[in-house]
Formats: sequence, structure tokens, C-alpha cells
Amino acid sequence: MSDNLAELKEAEARFFDKQTQRRMDEGRIPIEADIRRATPSKPRWFGDELIDPKMTFLLEGAHRDRFIALASHAPGGRVLDICCGPGWLSLELARNGQTVDAYDLSHEAIALARRMLAENPYQEGFGGINYHVGDVTKVDLGVEQYDAVTGSSAFHHIDDLRAFMETIYRALKPGGIIVTVDDMPRGALEIALDRFFRLILPTYNMSYWAKLKAIVKRAVGITRTAEEIFSPMEQGKHDSVYVIAEIWHRDFEIVEEAEFMAFSLSPCTLVKGPDAFRYQAARLIIAIDKLLCRLGLTRGFIRVIVGRKPWPQAS
Ligand SMILES: C[S@@+](CC[C@H](N)C(=O)[O-])C[C@H]1O[C@@H](n2cnc3c(N)ncnc32)[C@H](O)[C@@H]1O
Repeated sequence: MSDNLAELKEAEARFFDKQTQRRMDEGRIPIEADIRRATPSKPRWFGDELIDPKMTFLLEGAHRDRFIALASHAPGGRVLDICCGPGWLSLELARNGQTVDAYDLSHEAIALARRMLAENPYQEGFGGINYHVGDVTKVDLGVEQYDAVTGSSAFHHIDDLRAFMETIYRALKPGGIIVTVDDMPRGALEIALDRFFRLILPTYNMSYWAKLKAIVKRAVGITRTAEEIFSPMEQGKHDSVYVIAEIWHRDFEIVEEAEFMAFSLSPCTLVKGPDAFRYQAARLIIAIDKLLCRLGLTRGFIRVIVGRKPWPQAS
């Protein structure tokens, strides 16, 4: 591994160590550690998260439940969860009876994941999880050992994706399932619609007066639009989400592919008011979002692709 790459991975681990520590300093269970036990909360600023299972379900529809069920297709199966972070997905797979090998570079993320595993109250039918701190690209993943491989916001963090995918292909059993969940680069229309709905709706992060001042400041060039934050391993290579799709379509039978939430995520998580109003506003925005995606005018911000490793052809 070149010095530069080793340094980048070290920086990546520190980036996610800090992110995990920040979340823990807030004194609540973060959603990326356990989606069932996450502490409910309303956002206080832009970028802060809404932890509201009902809103999450409205936004994601059944996509999440579906890919977790597909990855748990083998009763008592063995699953590899790459770049697992604080472990929400590994936990859900184990709650579906799977035994999970989960890897992440970040010590803090794995420490939190282990704590959530120890505290897990959903024990019925629980498989198991082996958490490892380490670079998943350096692990001997063996041959045809896994019934499924999952990566949530994961594969585009891998440096030599094409070489890594050869290792993954070998490690997956024939008929095994492979899931990638990725956040996609957004286009100008998606960003404009996101801003439009945040502007017209009452939101937690800004009053209407603050929004007006922000527009004027931006118009006269006093402030600039905040740039998206990327982790060190994402930097400059976020476009590899397109390479992921290319590899999935080339090497696997596609079981399911979906893109959703082109612009609804921020408006729905920030909209302020009584719950009935928030959910009604969210339903409307999500319906418009779905329609524009279906018409091909916008592209989803979240993409899920589920593939299956083909069985060898009988000669
Ligand atoms: C955006 S986070 C996703 C975490 C988790 N899968 C989730 O859905 O919340 C990306 C994770 O990839 C991890 N990561 C990046 N490169 C890695 C590598 N080569 N091996 C293991 N983990 C890695 C980072 O430490 C980080 O926790």
C-alpha cells in the first residue's frame, strides 16, 4: 500500500472516530448504531438529524426492510457487512438470524457497535456478530463462505473497487445475495427543489426572517453555499457509485434496483410543526418526489441495488 493511501485510510479512520465521538457526546443513541433503539429527536440545525421512525418509513418506504430480508435469505446464514460503521445493519441482519462478520477502520465506531450488541434487547432468533477493527480490503475473505454481502454507504469508500469486487465475488456462494446502498451525487434540479421546499415550509433550522437574510447575503455574494462534506476516502471518488452499478450489472443477476428521495430528505426532516402537519407535508413532498423520479426528470439521492451471484452454468 502506498504511503499516501495508508495516510488516507488513517485519516478516514480518524474522521469516523470523531464523527462517532461527536454523536456520543450528544448523549443519545445514534440511528447508525441501532435503528430500533435510536433516541427520538427533532433537528436543531441544518444537517442535524431527525430521529423519527415514522418519518423515516415515509421517506424510505419498504426499501430498507426489503433489502435486509433479501440479504437474510438463507436461514441461519453467514453475512459479510463491509464498512459497517457503528453497526445498525449488522444488528438488523443478526436479528434476522444471520451470523455476521463486520469490518470497519474506525475503533470508535466498532466500540459503539460492540456496546449496542451487548445491550441488544431483541434476542429472539438472534444469530451473532463478529466485529473487527480493520481494513476489509486486507482480509482473507475465503471462497464461497458467505450467503450474502452488504455495504451501506460503503463500496465507494474502497480504493481499488474492481480488485476488491473480485475478492467479494469469490467469497460469495453461488446464489448468494449482494446489496449496495449508496448516496448519489445530486444534480442542479434536485438541489433547487430541496431548497425550494425548505424555503416555503416552516423549518426547525431557520425562521422565515433568517431565510430571507440568507438569500440576500447569498445574492450579494457575502456568503456562499456550504459545500458538501466528504470523508477522506470519498474525496474525489464519489463518482465511483457509477462503477458500482456497472460491476453489479456485469457480474450479478439484478434482483432489485431502486432510486428514491431525489430531494425530499432535507425538507421532510426539517419541517416544523405539529406531527399531523409534518407528516402531511412530508407525504405531499414525497409524492411529488416519486412522480418526478418516475417521469425521469430527477434522480434519487439514495440508490439500492440487490444482485445475486449466478449459479455455474451446467455444461
Ligand atoms: C459512510 S460510513 C457508513 C457506515 C455504515 N455502513 C452505515 O451505513 O452507517 C463509511 C464507513 O466505511 C469505513 N471504511 C472506509 N474504508 C474502509 C475499509 N477499507 N475497511 C473497512 N472500513 C472502511 C469508515 O470507517 C466508515 O465507518
